[in-house]
Amino acid sequence: MNIVNSIEKLFRETFHEEPLLFRSPGRVNLIGEHTDYNMGYVLPAAIDKAIYFAVTPRNDQECRLHSLDMNDMHVCSVNNPVPSEKGWPNYLMGVVDQLNKLNYRINGFNCVFGGDIPIGAGMSSSAAIEAGLAFALNNMFGLNIEKLELVKLAQRAENTFVGVKCGIMDQFINIFGNRDNVLRIDCRSLEYKYYPFAFDNISIVLFDTCVSHSLASSEYNKRREECGEGIKIIKNKYPECHYLRDVSVEILDEFRNSLDPIIYKRCKYVIEENNRLLKACVELEKGDLKSFGVYMNSTHEGLSKDYEVSCAELDFLAESVRNNSHVYGSRMMGGGFGGCTINLIDGEYTEEVRQELTEKYRQKFKIDLKTYITRISTGTGLITIQQDGSN
Ligand code: GLA
Repeated sequence: MNIVNSIEKLFRETFHEEPLLFRSPGRVNLIGEHTDYNMGYVLPAAIDKAIYFAVTPRNDQECRLHSLDMNDMHVCSVNNPVPSEKGWPNYLMGVVDQLNKLNYRINGFNCVFGGDIPIGAGMSSSAAIEAGLAFALNNMFGLNIEKLELVKLAQRAENTFVGVKCGIMDQFINIFGNRDNVLRIDCRSLEYKYYPFAFDNISIVLFDTCVSHSLASSEYNKRREECGEGIKIIKNKYPECHYLRDVSVEILDEFRNSLDPIIYKRCKYVIEENNRLLKACVELEKGDLKSFGVYMNSTHEGLSKDYEVSCAELDFLAESVRNNSHVYGSRMMGGGFGGCTINLIDGEYTEEVRQELTEKYRQKFKIDLKTYITRISTGTGLITIQQDGSN
C-alpha cells in the first residue's frame, strides 16, 4: 500500500470520516545556497517526495494531530497553540498560531499526516509540513489567503515555533513548484521566473550522507547573524546597501582589512554565490548543463571553505565525483552539516556512479550511502485517490 493510502486508511479508522487529501512536496535547490535570507536569488524545484495530509474540520476548537511517521497523536486547542516538547507538533501548531495572529478564525480539525521526505536530509520536510498544512487549512476553511501570504506565514511559523530563522526559499517552492521547472526566486522583490528543466539524458541525483550533525540549527542562525554583522559595517559607508545582495565584490574588497576575517569570508561567499547563480541561469537558458555544473562545483567550494557549513562526509561525496566526466556538477545542498549532495549526472551512468560512490563512502565512513533520483514535480495541492488506488 502506498503512503497516501495508508494515511487515508488510518484517518478513516481513527476519525470515521472521509478526509480531504493534500500533497506537499520536498525540494531540491540547484544553486543559490544561504542567499535567501540575504535577500538574494535561489533556484529550487519541488520534487517527487512529499508529505501527505488527510484532514477534516471539527465542530469544536480541538486539533487532533496524528503523525504516521512518529506513530503519535497530539491534542491541543486551536485558540491557544503553545510549543510542545515533543517537537513534531510545532511544525503544525506554528501555522495555527500564525492564522490566529492574522485574525483568521478557524475551527478545530482532525489531521493525519506522513510522507517519504527523509528527515534531516536537507529536502525540507519541515517546510513541506508547514506550507502543506497552511494550504490545507486555507482550502478547507475557505480562508481565501493568497499563495504568497501562505508562503510567508509558513515561513514565520518555522521562525517562531520551531526557532530556525530560515529564509523564504523552502516554503516558496513548496507552494509555487511546477512540474519539470526550476524556479528562480528573487528573495527581496519575491518576483520569480520558471526555467524548464527536463533533459532526457540528465538525472538530478541526491546522495545522502545519512548524517545530520547537531550543529545544523544553531550554526544556521549564527551564519545569519554573521551576515548581519557584515552588512551593518558596510552600510555605514554605503547606506544604499541594505543586504549583502546589494554589495559588489569591489565594495566588499574595500573592507578586506577592516572586517573580521570570518565575517569577510561569509560575506564574500554570499556575494559570489549570487553572482554565480545569475551566470548559471544564463547557461541553463542555453541548455549548457556542463557549464551550469561548473558553477555548482564552485558553490560547494564556497560553502565548504568560506561559509563553513559543510562537513567531512559532504566534502568527501562532492570531491569524489568532481573529476568524473559523467557528473556535470556536485555540491552540498540546503542548510548544511549533513544531508545530501545534489548532483547532475548523465542518466546512462547514474547507476555506475552510484555503485562506485557507495563503495567508497562505505570504506571511508562505514556508512551505507542512500541515493535518491528525483523528478521535478508540482507544488502543494489537493489530490484525490483514483479507483485503482493511485493518486
Ligand atoms: C534551509 C533554509 C532555507 C535556506 C537554506 C540554505 O533550507 O530553510 O531558507 O536558507 O537552508 O540555502
